[in-house]
Order: sequence, then structure tokens, then C-alpha cells
Amino acid sequence: MTELLTQAVSLVALGDIMVATADNPPVNALSHSVRAGLSDAISAFEKNDAARAMILVCAGRTFFAGADIREFAKPMREPLLGEVIARLDGCTKPVIAAIHGTALGGGLEVALACSYRVAVASARFGLPEVKLGILPGAGGSLRLPRLIGVEAALAMISEGRQIDAAEAARNGLIDAIVGSDLADGALGFARRIIDAGGDIRRASELPIPSFHSALFETARASMRKRFRGYVAPQKAVDLVETAVTMPFADAGEREYATCKELLGSPQSKALRHLFAAEREALKIEGVPADASLRDIRKVAVVGPGTMGRGIAACLLDAGLSVVLIGLSDESLGKARSGIARIYESALKRGSLSAEEIERRLSRLTLTQSYDGLADVDLAVEAVTEQRDVKAEVFGKLDAALRDDAIIVTNTSFLDIEELASASRRPSNVAGMHFFNPAHVMKLVENVRASRSAPDVLATITALARRLGKTPVMVGRSEGFVANRMLSKRTREAQFLLEEGATPAQIDRVLSGFGFPIGPFALADLAGMDIMAAARAARLPRMSDREKSCNIVDRLVAAGRLGQKTGAGYYRYDEKRTASPDPEADTILDTHRRDRGIVPREISDDEILERCLYAMVNEAAKILEEGAAARPGDIDVIWTSGFGFPSYLGGPMFHADRIGIQTIKAALDRYSALVGREYFQPAPLIERLAAEGKGFYG
Ligand code: CAA
Repeated sequence: MTELLTQAVSLVALGDIMVATADNPPVNALSHSVRAGLSDAISAFEKNDAARAMILVCAGRTFFAGADIREFAKPMREPLLGEVIARLDGCTKPVIAAIHGTALGGGLEVALACSYRVAVASARFGLPEVKLGILPGAGGSLRLPRLIGVEAALAMISEGRQIDAAEAARNGLIDAIVGSDLADGALGFARRIIDAGGDIRRASELPIPSFHSALFETARASMRKRFRGYVAPQKAVDLVETAVTMPFADAGEREYATCKELLGSPQSKALRHLFAAEREALKIEGVPADASLRDIRKVAVVGPGTMGRGIAACLLDAGLSVVLIGLSDESLGKARSGIARIYESALKRGSLSAEEIERRLSRLTLTQSYDGLADVDLAVEAVTEQRDVKAEVFGKLDAALRDDAIIVTNTSFLDIEELASASRRPSNVAGMHFFNPAHVMKLVENVRASRSAPDVLATITALARRLGKTPVMVGRSEGFVANRMLSKRTREAQFLLEEGATPAQIDRVLSGFGFPIGPFALADLAGMDIMAAARAARLPRMSDREKSCNIVDRLVAAGRLGQKTGAGYYRYDEKRTASPDPEADTILDTHRRDRGIVPREISDDEILERCLYAMVNEAAKILEEGAAARPGDIDVIWTSGFGFPSYLGGPMFHADRIGIQTIKAALDRYSALVGREYFQPAPLIERLAAEGKGFYG
């Protein structure tokens, strides 16, 4: 008879095998009721002389996905996870973890403390704590290296790398892969263990496998480079080193103390905020959580340029069929080789096999015709950013597609409302704003028009997720959210340059803040011609000062297009290493002279504040206009799209940490220095500062 031990854990005896089942939707997080139930199940198992093995399994979609993140901010209630795990480790009869879905964090630590682990073939395993700015705190760093080897464990703990069941079976993390009926497979496994004598095996008692003496130093250097600014990956290396060099109990204490310390750290708070914000961003106003999704199998992409190619590649990667429509054989030929190049580099990296690439390319059709699009479920318009050109494409798609097919535009600044209204299917029109290179960049700003149907919005959200992207729904607004905020940072960087700062100083300050690359190095990488074109598009809406601040145009006129011509803001050697260039200084000096500007010393603080606060001020306007639904959406956009350091939680979270009153005071200062039209505090900032609140209340 099944006994309910707590709200979340039940226990049943099937002959001499007990089965403890946890059921804590949605992901079986190890909340208090689960921990208490597990503890009770262990007691009942140990007390029951007839029971010779116990299976630990989870109901629903996954094995334990880790500690309950929602409990982190509250005082922990006993039994703590470490206590439950110590009891599992101490069991005098075998416990078998039966795993499906994802065994993550504390969930994997539970499994590691069992005698045996079996899993279905689709299961995945990981210690992703580092992504939340923390580290395993219940023996994961001690048991994993003993089971799978020090180097493999180090990669999982310091990078949060997940592995599949096949790899877990190879490296010894699990003892068997069972068929799709997990209960049946686990019972069969338990029977074999009992029949073989019921041995218990404790990972805690295994010897430490040998490892290379330089392993930890090499890992530290690699972490410093790959995770610049992040605290947890560095500490992870120290932790694993401790785990394999200190006695088990001492290392366990160190592990717990490190996890606890990191849990209270600003970085962990910021990363946990982003974890929640990313999920919150999927909740879209007016779109029920169970909105029906339209079936998307075949997609037409119109426009075979850089964006169209990247979008086509990620659609192919997600298993969709793609019709890429262009105007000429030449443009389609270029698109075909562009897409082939994307796959060639995947082949070189070893991430895709030649057969897989062949399969993907077999789903691609290139054509100049809009005929035969009746089986297309969604079309992406990715043609040049000209209103009349886009309107013409919309007209052709309207005529060629089924009435229920969706049309999305990839426009980055045109008015989506205008495009939707001109269509004969306005409810089936929305935006999907990809970023270049579209097959690499995670962020997609999905754009709702006033008449976009809820199921269309749900469908494009699901599609973006299927492409492995991070979608955020935004509203009508010129430049949407990411580029609109970026344009303010770009403006300030240009103003600072003409006022006397150097590209190297501004780049140093912003990359020192945590951006992966400074704005001028980025411009040189993207190409000055691209920057000049973006500037030309915005020119009609620029202030007089912005119009006159034409350093970009001067660089283009001098043939300095950036890395591709060996010179832009910087000079580049044949290895593309940048160095300051006196010729660029001369262009800057001439610009300042022409504008009558006497250069001044500019402090690093001023650079950072002007670049950052101009963005935050714009974000406040975006929020007030409703173009972003929540401050968290803006944090997700900037961390997933434009390299805002995740460990600071995004611009809005970071602004709250600085304090809105401090930011308002700085905006007032820069209003006086640079001009009110650039730095007048947004009404929302005024209000929050007056109320002593932040964007997050
Ligand atoms: N605790 C509490 N809630 C969690 C959770 C957790 N560990 N993991 C996921 N959830 C919640 C999500 O917030 C989401 O809630 P809403 O529906 O309210 O938005 C819901 O579960 C579903 O999550 P996803 O949308 O992410 O679902 P998915 O199917 O796409 O992914 C998953 C499932 C792979 C488990 C993913 O949620 C995930 O990666 N979770 C985090 C796992 C993790 O980091 N575990 C380590 C925690 S720290 C730890 O365990 C160490 C320790 O002991 C101190």
C-alpha cells in the first residue's frame, strides 16, 4: 500500500523492494517537503527488515532539478539537503536512483549519494550551480571526481557542463541505461543487485582517480579568460582541488561553507535574478500560458542577405524546411555559399558531421519565385530596411501564402504597425528581430503589433525557443529595446570622443566594466561602412550636435573601414591585433578643431556613467511607454544580446544596486554638462528617486 510520507514523497513496498516517489511539480525541486519526505523514506527503509533495496524515483517530467531556488532567499528549514544526503550515503542497504529528465545540482548530488544510478537514454546530468553564481554544497564536488575522474568532474562543476546518458554510462556516472519504462528497468536492476548479494557502493569511499599535476593551474588560467569577471568558476577550481586533496569530511565542510558564502554574494543574487527574469519574460500579457500553438514545419525567408542567411541556417538547424527567396541567381548563389560557409566552420569545429550537414541542406530550397508557398506556415521578411521594399514583399507574401500563415518582419527600426495594417492578415503579422550573426546570437526581440493574435505571439515565442534563442516580447518603439538603448550609449561614446577621450580609454572603461568588447573595437570589427549606414538611417532624427559629431563619416572618407582595411579607430597588424593609431588621432584632432572643441581630460567615472546612465534613462522611457513589459525583460535583452555582464544582473538590476537617487543626481549633473535634451531624467526615474524606490520596487 502506498504511504504518503509528506505532501511530496510517497513510499510503497513491492515485495522486498521499496519505491520512494517524489512528486513536486514542475521540476521536482528539493523543497522542504521533498527533503523531509526523503528523510522519512530512508528511515522507513532502514527500519523495514524485509526491504532489501530502495528505488528513488520522481514523478512528472524530471528527476530532481536541484535545490528549490525559491527557498534561497529564506532561512533554510531542516532537514537540510546535506543531512538527507549524508543519510543516503550512510544507508546500510542499496538505494538506486532511477533518473529521467534532468538530474541537476542538488538533484544530481542526491543521485551521487545513492549506491547505484540507472537512467533512461534521454536523461541529462549536470552541476549547473556555477550558472547561478554558487557551487555544489552537498557533496557534489567530492563524489563526482571519485566517480568519473577529476578532469571530467572539474569541467562539469566549473563550467556547468551537462552530459547525456551515453556519456554518463561511459564515464561511470551511471551504472546502466534502461529502456523507456524507467520503473520496470529500475526494478529489474534492483532485483539483480539483490540477487548478487545486495552490495552497497559508496562514492564517498572510492579512491581519488589520478590526475595531471598541472590540471588546476591550467583550469584557473582558462576560467580567468573564459569567464572574465565571474567569481564562481574560479572558486569551483579551488573547490575541486580541495575535494581531491583534503580528507572527505574536511573538504565537505569547506564545500558547504563556500556554497553558503557564494549564496549571499551579489553575483549570485544577480544571476538568480536573471534565471527568474528569463522565465518571466516568456509570460506574455494577453497570451494564456496554455495558448494553442500553430504547427510550424516549413518557413519562407525572403531576403538572402546576411540576416536572411543566418536566419535560414538556424531554422535548418532546428529541423525546419526553408524556402529562401531572393531577387537574382547571383544573390541566391551568394546565399548558398554563405550558408555552406556557416556549416563548413561547424564541420571544422567537429560540432556537425558531413552527413548531418547534408541532411540539413537537403531541407533548403532557393528560389526567385513566390509560387508554391501553400505549404509554408510562416514567412520571415528579411529584406533591406526600406519601407517601400518591405511593403512590396508583404504584398507578395499576402498573395502567395495561406490565410492562416504567419508573416514576421525582421525590421530593426521600421514601424511594425504600418506593415501589419497594410497586410490583409494583420492578426497574423508580428516581428522577429534577430541580431547579426543570426545563427549565433541568442537574443530575438519578438515584436507585437496591436492586432497580433495571441496564438501568433505564443507561436513565435515557441519558435524562437525551438531555435535555441532567448525570446523577449517587445512593443512598438523605434529601434525596439536593444538598439534603442544602444544608440544612446553610442551617442555618448561619440560625444566623449570629440570632447577629449580616446577610443582606447573608452574601450578600456567599458570592457573593464564587463562588456566583452569596447564600442570602438566593436565598430572596427563590424565595419565602419556598416556603422556609417546605421548612422545615415538615423540622421533625420538626430540632434544638431549628433549630426555634426560625424567622426564615423570622416573615418570612412579616409578609407578606414575597420579591421577589414587594417585601420579604423585603431590600426591592425596582420594578426588583427589593435594598437592606437596617430592617423586616427589626427582625424579626431581635425574634427575637434573644425567643431571648435578644446579637448579636456575626461575621467573614467564620467565615461562609465554617461554611457551607462544614458542607457538606463532610455530604458526608463521604454518601460513607461510599455515597449518593454518589465525591467526584467530589459535585463534579459541586454545580457543575452549585447554582452551586459550577467553577474551584474542586467542594466536595470544594476541600476537598482547603484541606487536610482544616485543615478538621478548624475543625470542632472550631465544635463548641465552635456545638455538637457540628452540627460533630462525620465519621468519614471524622477518618480522612483522621489519615492526612494528602484525599478524592482
Ligand atoms: N527551483 C525552483 N524552481 C525551479 C527550479 C529550481 N531549481 N528549476 C526550475 N524551476 C521553475 C522555473 O522557475 C519555472 O517556473 P515558472 O513555470 O513559474 O516559470 C518552472 O520551474 C519550469 O522551469 P523551466 O521553464 O526552466 O522548464 P524547462 O523544462 O525549460 O527546464 C530545467 C527545466 C532544465 C530543470 C530548468 O528549469 C533548469 O535548468 N533549472 C535550474 C536547475 C538548477 O540550476 N539547479 C541547481 C539549483 S542549485 C542547487 O541545487 C545547489 C544546491 O544544492 C545549493
